Formats: sequence, structure tokens, C-alpha cells
Amino acid sequence: MFRRMPETRTSSDRGPSLVGTWSFSLAAIESAWSILLGGNSSQDDRAAGDSESNSCVLDAIEAACRHADLDQGVDSVGIGGLPDSSGRMSLDGAIMESPVRFAGVAALRRHLHPVSVARLVMERTEHTLLCGDDADEFADRHAATARDLLSDEAREAFEKWKASRRDGSADPIDQSKDGSLLGLRPLDPGLGGESAGRLFRPNTGREGAAPAGHDTIGVLGRDAAGNLAAGCSTSGLPFKVPGRVGDSPIAGHGLFVQPEVGSATATGTGELISGICASFVAVETLRRGGTLLDAVREVMLRIDELGPLRPHHQVAVIVMDAFGNVASGAYRPGFLIATRDEGGGRVSGPDLVHRPEDDGLPESARDGLAKNDRQESKDDP
Ligand code: GLY
Repeated sequence: MFRRMPETRTSSDRGPSLVGTWSFSLAAIESAWSILLGGNSSQDDRAAGDSESNSCVLDAIEAACRHADLDQGVDSVGIGGLPDSSGRMSLDGAIMESPVRFAGVAALRRHLHPVSVARLVMERTEHTLLCGDDADEFADRHAATARDLLSDEAREAFEKWKASRRDGSADPIDQSKDGSLLGLRPLDPGLGGESAGRLFRPNTGREGAAPAGHDTIGVLGRDAAGNLAAGCSTSGLPFKVPGRVGDSPIAGHGLFVQPEVGSATATGTGELISGICASFVAVETLRRGGTLLDAVREVMLRIDELGPLRPHHQVAVIVMDAFGNVASGAYRPGFLIATRDEGGGRVSGPDLVHRPEDDGLPESARDGLAKNDRQESKDDP
């Protein structure tokens, strides 16, 4: 067990930065960089000037998540996301500055930007979590813009999925106990190709297969004054049981921030992340004197304790300390992290892959693994 020994830290101040889960988040954090540096944000879903926050990091986190929500090329977040098993979209998200400044929203069906609605909850109520129709109605009352969340492409994917279940051609690996299709785990193809932002389809090797899989954008930010914030946005598990909510809207699960200690965000299978309170565990490890890599390892060791994982399972975590130093890790190969700081924007592999040989894939999918998926673990940053 780690004890808090902050004086042993040797980290130096890294300046302002934003980091995000998956390579597709690079565009999102690039778009928010000027806001982090003090530029204006134009978040049209909430009234300007009512924020109690004294930092631009919250604006930058919100802007980054909103950017991903609008990206139709991302099949796990916002308007590009996939619906539940009834063919209806539902979005989850959260925003957090500290254990007394956070909020989440779950199962929004009519509003595209869960992070913005969560921020409204945080700033205009005393509550920390709203869900379902009432969360949408709360957003309506606060003048957030409602819209149809199901894209034509997602509707088509849903129809294909339904048809594959009717005719029995659905891949058995994709079947969950309750009959929803869970899909193969997400594998990040990196940027540049037409697969960018598609964490699932390009790697399955199953031509014509319905898209499946899921993953969240989680963003951690630190401004020049050292203020920390985090946000998450997701459409959750594709073709999920209606009403299912994952880790993303819940503090300690999909995200956690403890000012002057650090922040964390998790992505992957929400049920596993929630089961171990992954983001809380990571930040608590830092708080007790652990290094960033200790924090990542602690999350992975707790995942080990959950027992054998199923093929579609994945958990990845990014941890930032109070100085802006970052470490990241994934349980299995296939995860990438995006960074924007004064040195520019870039995508890189995680610092560690806990089970590098455990790709959890059937032979048919193995050949499609992205090259950058096969990475060596690195030492402490
Ligand atoms: N990690 C996102 C979800 O499980 O919904």
C-alpha cells in the first residue's frame, strides 16, 4: 500500500497540456488548445459568463469533448456513435474539476453534448448526476439545443446488426448473455487512413460485419496556472440494452480529479472500469505517494483480480500528476493516446501494456492489428 510522500516527487512543471484517449482525440484537443491558453470559447449550449471556475481548463475540456461529439468519423462518441438495441441513441458524459466540482449526465437521447449538459448540472444545481428523459428536459430548460442523434450511417449499421441477428450470421464472439452484441474490443488504427476514428471495423477482418465495439473520449487538462480538469463523452456500448450506463458519467469511474494531486480518465469496458473505480484508484495511488506508472499498474492489477476477461474487454487509463506529467497504460494492446502541449500535438502508444501477448482476438482478426499496436512497455517517464 502506498503512503503519501509528495516530497519524494522529482517531477518538474510541464506547462499547459491536454491529453486524450485514442488517436481520434488529437483533433479534439488541438481544437481546444487556444482555449486552454486563454482564448475565448464559444459553447453555444450554455450561457456564457456564469462559470464559477477561475480557469480556462474547464472550457478547454468542454470544447475538446464537443469537437469529438461532432465528428461523424468517430464511431463511439456523439453523432458518429452507434445506438442501443432498440435503435435509439443515448449519450453519457461528465466533467470534473475536484471532488466538490463535478457532474455527469447519463442516457441523454436528444442532446449531443453530454459534457455541456453536465457542466450545466454542475454550475446550476447542487446535484452531480442526472439521467434519462429528465436530463434531456433539464437541458431543454437551460436552452441547450436538442437534435436527432442517430446518423444515417449509424441507422444503417443498426439495421445490419438486426439483420445479422435475425439470419443467425452474427459472429458468436459478439454475443453477450443478454443477447445484445458486444463486439470485438476497440483497436486504434491510428490517424491518417480512412479508418481513423473507427476503433472497431478496420481490424476485425470480417468484411461486411456490422460495426461493433465502443470507446470513450476522456480528456485531461492542465492550464498554465496548474488547474486540473477532466471530461468524458461517449455513446457507450453499441447495441447495448436500453438504459445501460457505463463508467463515463460517474466520478471515480470514467474520470477523477484531485487538485494538487492529479487526474485520471479511463476508457474501455465500462462494467470493468466501474467495478474497480478505475480513475479513483489511479489518483488515490498518486495521493498515497505512488508514481504515475504505479497508478497505471494498480488499475491493471485490479482488473486482473476481476478474473478472466472476455475477448471484447479492454481497459485503458491515462493519469496526470499535479505538474502535468502523464503516464498511460492499457490492459491489452490496441490503445493510443493523444497529447497537445507546448511541444505540439502527437499520438503515441501507452507507457505500458499489461498483457501484451493477450490480444483476445480470434485468428481471423489478428492480421488486422495496427502496426503501432505492437509496442514494448516503456520505463517510468
Ligand atoms: N467506457 C464507456 C462505456 O463503457 O460506456
